[in-house]
Amino acid sequence: MLTLQLLLVTIEADFVGIKLGILGLGTVGTGTVQLLSDTTGRHPLLEEIEIYRLGVRSLTKLREVSLPEGVLTTDLEAIVSDPQVDIVVELLGGLEPARSLILKAIAAGKHIVTANKAVISRFGDEIFTAANQAGVYVMIEAAVGGGIPVIQPLKQSLSVNRIHTVTGIVNGTTNYILTRMQTEGSSFDDVLADAQRLGYAEADPTADVDGLDAGDKIAILASLAFGGRIHLEQVYCEGIRQVSKTDIAYAEKLGFVIKLLAIAQRHTISAPLSVRVHPTLVPKAHPLASINGVYNAILVEGEPIGQVMFFGPGAGAGATASAVSSDILALVAALKASTAKPNPLLTCRHQDYSQIAPIEELVTRFYARFLTKDQPGVIGKLGTCFGKYGVSLESVVQTGFHGELAEIVVVTHDVREGDFRQALAEISSLESIDSIPSLLRVL
Ligand code: HSE
Repeated sequence: MLTLQLLLVTIEADFVGIKLGILGLGTVGTGTVQLLSDTTGRHPLLEEIEIYRLGVRSLTKLREVSLPEGVLTTDLEAIVSDPQVDIVVELLGGLEPARSLILKAIAAGKHIVTANKAVISRFGDEIFTAANQAGVYVMIEAAVGGGIPVIQPLKQSLSVNRIHTVTGIVNGTTNYILTRMQTEGSSFDDVLADAQRLGYAEADPTADVDGLDAGDKIAILASLAFGGRIHLEQVYCEGIRQVSKTDIAYAEKLGFVIKLLAIAQRHTISAPLSVRVHPTLVPKAHPLASINGVYNAILVEGEPIGQVMFFGPGAGAGATASAVSSDILALVAALKASTAKPNPLLTCRHQDYSQIAPIEELVTRFYARFLTKDQPGVIGKLGTCFGKYGVSLESVVQTGFHGELAEIVVVTHDVREGDFRQALAEISSLESIDSIPSLLRVL
């Protein structure tokens, strides 16, 4: 008993932080290092994380981040087996050596965070089986939807529901191409060439435009939503190469937009799943119809919750770093909770009150509707009063009459609410103003 107590005290006293071994310093790796190195205003638990080793291909390449001497190394194998490393963060992309390094790290007892949808969708069985045997976690929030938190909600918050459909726009490149074809009436080939020139599409666009990237992602989402592993080769994948501007124009006339949807569906509990990626005519009123450009969105439908939609940036350094770091944070919380303290992500960590700005300090645009006497100079008087309090008008329209009274509507530029209210008080007292029936803030 005494020995156990001493041991616990020693663990507490020795706790100096969770050590990360990061593999890869490309776009996502750089974003993650930047986020983890700048913790002000973020969760305080981030301060307990140490970037202990960072594996790169070349030590001489110019980097956007500076790291202490000795952190960068080209020996990735040494990182995954280093006894000091608690969590291996795999941000290499591609199948190998990513898969082998993840498996070696698991064998060495490391928890894993990875953004690698290709590895997870192909080798998830092997990786999760190994992880379960080793008693470690494999976290994959960044593998689907970039910065959009969808993995954790499917694993936790939504898991009490019977999910029947997951429908996603999970590939930003194809959504960008289809959106431009729609808005410009351009052909697939022209928009693809331009997207490549602008860096929105890869030089080899196959994985994106043929629906394979979306296939990897829906396989992962389906697995989480329906609780079973997915053979990737059974996921039907059809890309957007054959979508023509003529089809987009006809769809538009019929009240649809064309989107590359990744769909996982189960009609009844015992029915087989339907998991597929294909261009789809989406009714304009559907929540996914307005997701444009490089954005992603995932609509989850289940019982009893109904519909929940997640929307956000599906790629990019900062967005993906947010997802990667959230997984790291969850692991740090779990590791800390095991030292007999409550899980710091579940407890309330606040003690002080936040400072709230009074509404007068709000800076916003306003819409105001005035009923005025129909006399010369009324609009001039309104303008003079607004000008006196620094209120700049974006538009002024006289829409008609209410009986004898003229109806004037103004929309302001951004203004401090207190200043706007002072101007209105003065305007209300003008003899030519009857009333101000509407006052609304404009986003
Ligand atoms: N190639 C992906 C896309 C980015 O276009 O959405 C990250 O998965």
